[in-house]
Amino acid sequence: MAKSVAKVAVVICSNRKPRANPQIANFVLEAIESTYQDRWSLEPSFKVIDLAERNLPFFDEPDVPSQIHDYTKYAHAHTREWSQEVQSYDAFIFVCPQYNWGYPAVLKNAIDYLYNEWKGKPAMIVSYGGHGGGRAAGQLRQVLCGVHMIPTKKHVELAFPSRSVLLEAAYGKDLGLDGFNAKGTWASQRKEIGDVFAEMMDLLTSNKVGKALKSAAVTFGYAKEELRKKFKKGSTAGEATGRGEARSDDE
Ligand SMILES: Cc1cc2nc3c(=O)[nH]c(=O)nc-3n(C[C@H](O)[C@H](O)[C@H](O)COP(=O)(O)O)c2cc1C
Repeated sequence: MAKSVAKVAVVICSNRKPRANPQIANFVLEAIESTYQDRWSLEPSFKVIDLAERNLPFFDEPDVPSQIHDYTKYAHAHTREWSQEVQSYDAFIFVCPQYNWGYPAVLKNAIDYLYNEWKGKPAMIVSYGGHGGGRAAGQLRQVLCGVHMIPTKKHVELAFPSRSVLLEAAYGKDLGLDGFNAKGTWASQRKEIGDVFAEMMDLLTSNKVGKALKSAAVTFGYAKEELRKKFKKGSTAGEATGRGEARSDDE
């Protein structure tokens, strides 16, 4: 019998061009797929939310979002669309860079637009940076709790193996990441990503969410296709449109 499907969003939290985020999100998804244990009453179906594409203006709603329980009450069409998108997901994987010891402003802005849409939903954080972006992850976790999401106990920190790799990442170069390769960059963290994802699936299962959609199998494919379109493996500059700012001086 087909299981119910839990809709999981993989959130790309950087809106720079060029950027490393799509290829790191792709690695995270591959790592989840390569370590996936089929032991839940739900099956995850992944889709990508790219905050660069969503392109929300700075928060401009007249009301406090926690007071809004019906998305049609938002003043602006962009908020109503964002609300409907977030409502449609059961859980969120935030793949998030560290900027100046915090997480990107575009992500805070996207979170602040809504409240009840986030409430009660499981989330996991995968941060990255020179030392793994732990400070960004810690701050993001606090804010997710503020909108009453349920973050996993553990998060994952992916540290660029060297300063030169950090600079390549900043310029959107292909880092050769492969979540199926047991020897590549961050290979030793594939299991950690799988374990944190399993914790999120446990939370989802106990949340009794999941739409009764017919699904033959776990659906990684669609999200991977979306991510690969954003970042073509093997290209030297990914989705680069120019030279971005690189930062390598601290964690
Ligand atoms: C504004 C800015 C601030 C940054 N701050 C940090 C930092 O605090 N710690 C760190 O390890 N890397 C920092 N970096 C380097 C990023 O880890 C690196 O540029 C990475 O590629 C950013 O992710 P993105 O390309 O997906 O935006 C910073 C980069 C930018 C653009």
